[in-house]
Amino acid sequence: MMDVGRHPKIELLTNAELEDVSGYVGNFKARIRKKARYVNEAECTACGDCVSVCPVVLPDEYQMGLSSRRAIYIPFPQAVPSAYVVSAEDCLGLNPIACGKCLEACEKQCINFDMKDEHIEVDVGAIIVATGMDVYDPSALDEYGYTRFTNVVTSLEFERLISTGGPLEGHLARPSDLKRPRRIGFVQCVGSRTQDPQRGNPYCSNICCMNTIKDAQYLMDNYPDSDIMVFYIDLRAYGKGFEELLMRTRSRGVRYVRGLPGEVREDASSGNLLVTVENTTDKRIENYEFDMLVLAVGATSAIATESIRQMVSLSKSPDGFLKEAHAKLRPVDTPTKGVFIAGAVESPKDVRQSVTQASAASSRASILLNKGEFSVEAITAVVFDEQCSKCGLCARACPFGAITWQKKQAPKVISAACSGCGCCAAECKYGAIGMRHFSDQAIYAQIDAILEKDPHEKVVTFACNWCSYAGADTAGVSRMEYPPSARIIRTMCSARVNPEFVWYAFQKGAPVVLVSGCHYADCHYIDANRNTVRRVEGLWDGLEKSGIRPQRLLLEWCSAAEGLRWQAIMKETDNKRKTVTREELEQTRTLLAKARVPRPRTDKDINENQEADFVCLRCGHSWAGIFNVETERTCAECKSNSIRWLRKNA
Ligand code: FES
Repeated sequence: MMDVGRHPKIELLTNAELEDVSGYVGNFKARIRKKARYVNEAECTACGDCVSVCPVVLPDEYQMGLSSRRAIYIPFPQAVPSAYVVSAEDCLGLNPIACGKCLEACEKQCINFDMKDEHIEVDVGAIIVATGMDVYDPSALDEYGYTRFTNVVTSLEFERLISTGGPLEGHLARPSDLKRPRRIGFVQCVGSRTQDPQRGNPYCSNICCMNTIKDAQYLMDNYPDSDIMVFYIDLRAYGKGFEELLMRTRSRGVRYVRGLPGEVREDASSGNLLVTVENTTDKRIENYEFDMLVLAVGATSAIATESIRQMVSLSKSPDGFLKEAHAKLRPVDTPTKGVFIAGAVESPKDVRQSVTQASAASSRASILLNKGEFSVEAITAVVFDEQCSKCGLCARACPFGAITWQKKQAPKVISAACSGCGCCAAECKYGAIGMRHFSDQAIYAQIDAILEKDPHEKVVTFACNWCSYAGADTAGVSRMEYPPSARIIRTMCSARVNPEFVWYAFQKGAPVVLVSGCHYADCHYIDANRNTVRRVEGLWDGLEKSGIRPQRLLLEWCSAAEGLRWQAIMKETDNKRKTVTREELEQTRTLLAKARVPRPRTDKDINENQEADFVCLRCGHSWAGIFNVETERTCAECKSNSIRWLRKNA
């Protein structure tokens, strides 16, 4: 912290909050609120005169509520700058009539209640998100008695109790009577590795086993007469030197019992804790008595990260931690170009791993900035202004915020920010957005080719590049057999699948259409596949209303590693295909021919005030009229605005 504070090229903004981020790689604009400190940090000598007169006493958050602080305080001992800050929510002095004692006590006159929050705007080329993690609150796990017994503490509270900068200045004592605990029990995996969402998270928190070993070593070094017992499910000591450390801890007399306590009671007279546990190694119930019990609480994603995640358009994994662009190849990059992640914001990790990742993230950012130029994707969106209705739906659909739009104006695509998922192109009902090198026409041509001969034997399959297509590949290279009916059209993301592709495939005689993408929270384009779900649901609705069995359209998620799953999906899809009779196919063709689901427009297909044929994609109602972006947007039958049109006789 000190080094960062002194570094000539680092500007450290403390007591500040990021309010908004706009722009794109190389051109981000960050709006920051620097909260009023009410103390002139350059003048403050941290003498503490103000603290001694402050009448407001509050639990000290840094010390986990184990000691108190005043309304004017230094947040933690190594804080940079080493100057006092007034908590606006807690201070009576903000209403100076009520108090103002610190003002009088400060000889150097550093305190100023007229200070206001400042709003700062900075231009930055890259952003690194390193906002850390939270820890699990064990209050819900009643069997450990955390909320009932004072001598049951979390590992973080224990950390404060043994720290020389803690409330006891490093002289370990238990909270109830401040006596030194001799028998100490540690419970592992509290809030981790459980399938019950009421009891915590399913993942391993990575750091707890080694943290307990570190605590045990500390106790053996400083209090050799300690009797330490660790309750665990299994021990995970991977990492350089970790196994040796575990062995050393065991050899120094720390006992390990495989099994987590089922019940913790308190002996009211002594304050000791009576623990009942099933020892799963010896297969028997055992009882132990401890002076103190430490719960090794797991890690959780930081709540405060959510607002930043939304500001810079990042995706998160199902466990709530931020997601990297690629787990193996781009572990500190994110899907949003120019934004990197480091530390526990990505997954629970220890200091060593966090430092490694932080070095990697800063190197990645430096490479980007030093290069001075940035290569955009080959596949990016392009707006055809003359077809655009200026509705702005594309801008709303873009998961990267790469499309800017203002009312009554055609949207603009920021190519540097566009990742080429194609979500916008699929959203546009007017065909006013296309993808460079991945046009609608190319996709329609593939549908045509697939269904040219024996369409009743084919399954038109849209598979996203990153997961489903790779899953199909895995099935292929692993020699997993599946029915030869599948014909795959690769799209960058499942969100590229325009509903019109599906209608067109059915019109051309496809018995079954499969749309397939990454697992729901694994989309490589942040959360673009949510749009896939929305569109497919709309299609199911539309198919039903048009008299076509919605079961003929399937939506499946499959990851790159799931070759077996792909095989199963293909088999199931082929079974569905077999249920579609030739009569049904003919009937579909007739229905859709009446509804005139047309070939895609080219950019010349439609102009204002031109005669056109209209069709509602929801209910199939069709009519002829004059095209006008302002008036022809609602179906007279079902009132939907899923209207598409084609120049008359095109
Ligand atoms: Fe696979 Fe979006 S990239 S669904």
